[in-house]
Amino acid sequence: MRNKIFVTRIIPDAGLKLLREQFDVDVWQEFLPPNREALLSRVQGAVGLLSLLSDRIDTEVMDAAGPQLRGIANFAVGFNNIDVAAAIARGIAVGNTPDVLTDATADTAVGLVIAAVRHFQSSILQVRNLQWKTWEPIGQLGHDLNGKTLGIVGMGRIGAAVARKLVGGWGMKVVYTSRSPKPEIDKEFSATRVSLEQLLSQSDVISLHTDLNEQTKHMISHREFAIMKPNAVIVNTARGGVVDQDALYSALKSKVIFAAGLDVTDPEPLPADSPLRELDNCTILPHIGSATFEARDRMAVMAAQNLIAASTGKSIPFPVR
Ligand code: DGY
Repeated sequence: MRNKIFVTRIIPDAGLKLLREQFDVDVWQEFLPPNREALLSRVQGAVGLLSLLSDRIDTEVMDAAGPQLRGIANFAVGFNNIDVAAAIARGIAVGNTPDVLTDATADTAVGLVIAAVRHFQSSILQVRNLQWKTWEPIGQLGHDLNGKTLGIVGMGRIGAAVARKLVGGWGMKVVYTSRSPKPEIDKEFSATRVSLEQLLSQSDVISLHTDLNEQTKHMISHREFAIMKPNAVIVNTARGGVVDQDALYSALKSKVIFAAGLDVTDPEPLPADSPLRELDNCTILPHIGSATFEARDRMAVMAAQNLIAASTGKSIPFPVR
């Protein structure tokens, strides 16, 4: 009898094929994620769990799986949905999918920067709603990016990829925050590591790339919006919880800042009654940062490789860090 793996959603075949060669693979077939009851029931007896960022994987899930659970492979680079400390304490390896989605996510961030700075959201709606009446000499005006200042909050792999694209394409100057100095970044982009306050007050474009944890929850709130420039645009491709959405709404509505582009919200999906939906200067995408064929195939393979190693007690190739 083969060991069981539970996969909480249909993922690309590239990963499922690898898993099916070795395991009895139970894949949740529905469009929406398993609810709590279904997750707790289907994970029972699994040696490996392939989870998505929308699945909360805590001690209750680990208990429900049973003592044979050896590995949890998140189909994402972020892993704030998993109680990693509890898993490690039980000897369960936890893996993620770094690097392979860096460019896809950075491309999404750059797209949101342009959408935000050039009014794509309201312009698309104008055409769709038959409100495009004439060419407007002083309508729908946005801002140039050339030579402006880009602030990367959390200079990791994705932040650096965003900087690379915006420096290469638009000659932007870079300031950034990070827990430790990054001499290679300073050199590559002639960038300067600054405090969050300095970054927010100097940047024309602010791009968020920090993990979501207790320290970063709502790190961008009323006080932070108040020190941004009036022409600032803020883009979030990290996690919705990093931004206080009530504060974002006030800042956008009262034009304290120019615009925002969000690939992530809190919660997801954005509730039907969220006032952010009504704003002309807020472009919102449904968390598509890593959604390219190439990235998702590679993520599926990495998640499968993590579970294959974990199930045999070997070190996993892509552990969370
Ligand atoms: C991740 O992998 O954490 C991203 O948010 C997916 O887009």
